[in-house]
Amino acid sequence: MRVRLHEHEFEQFISENEVNAAVTRVAQELNAHYAGQRPLFVGVLNGAFFFATELLKRLTIECEITFVKVASYHGTSSSGKVTDLIGFNERIEGRHIVILEDIVDTGSTIVHILDLLRDRHPASVRIATLLFKPDAYKQQVPIDHVAIRIPNAFVVGSGLDHNGLGRNLTGIYRIIDQPA
Ligand code: IMP
Repeated sequence: MRVRLHEHEFEQFISENEVNAAVTRVAQELNAHYAGQRPLFVGVLNGAFFFATELLKRLTIECEITFVKVASYHGTSSSGKVTDLIGFNERIEGRHIVILEDIVDTGSTIVHILDLLRDRHPASVRIATLLFKPDAYKQQVPIDHVAIRIPNAFVVGSGLDHNGLGRNLTGIYRIIDQPA
């Protein structure tokens, strides 16, 4: 299955069924880890809306969810340094927090979000992500819950976009004409 978004061509390499199975596995990990607790999930917009929805449908523990946007300096999509959390007014002191990301690439975004959340003294913070690019990751912080590990290529679908397009594609699509 191929699709064109703006100037690039993409092809599906992970099916919707595989995505669903991976999200179910992460939900099981979280149901076990947070049994008897009431974690607060923090979805990072825009991309994590899909993962957040699919994950929460599969959680059986008592839980809350909120969303946050990050303000960053823009250059290329992955080099933006997170400078602030927009629209995040929750009191998280003493709470167990789970950050929900669509993708962890170099890891600089998640590490900055982690720093900003830790300033507010939560009891604990864990990270759950739909996609993880281990070969691109440059940080030491462990990514606690990973649905799917992918190679170092630009991808869209299941919430992820290329300049605004592709978030609605089911499964995961990989760019096939990326210049070397
Ligand atoms: P990091 O800070 O390098 O980990 O990059 C994280 C952010 O870059 C993600 O939240 C996405 O917005 C964006 N990003 C990184 N890789 C991709 C990709 O393959 N497709 C779409 N967005 C991506």
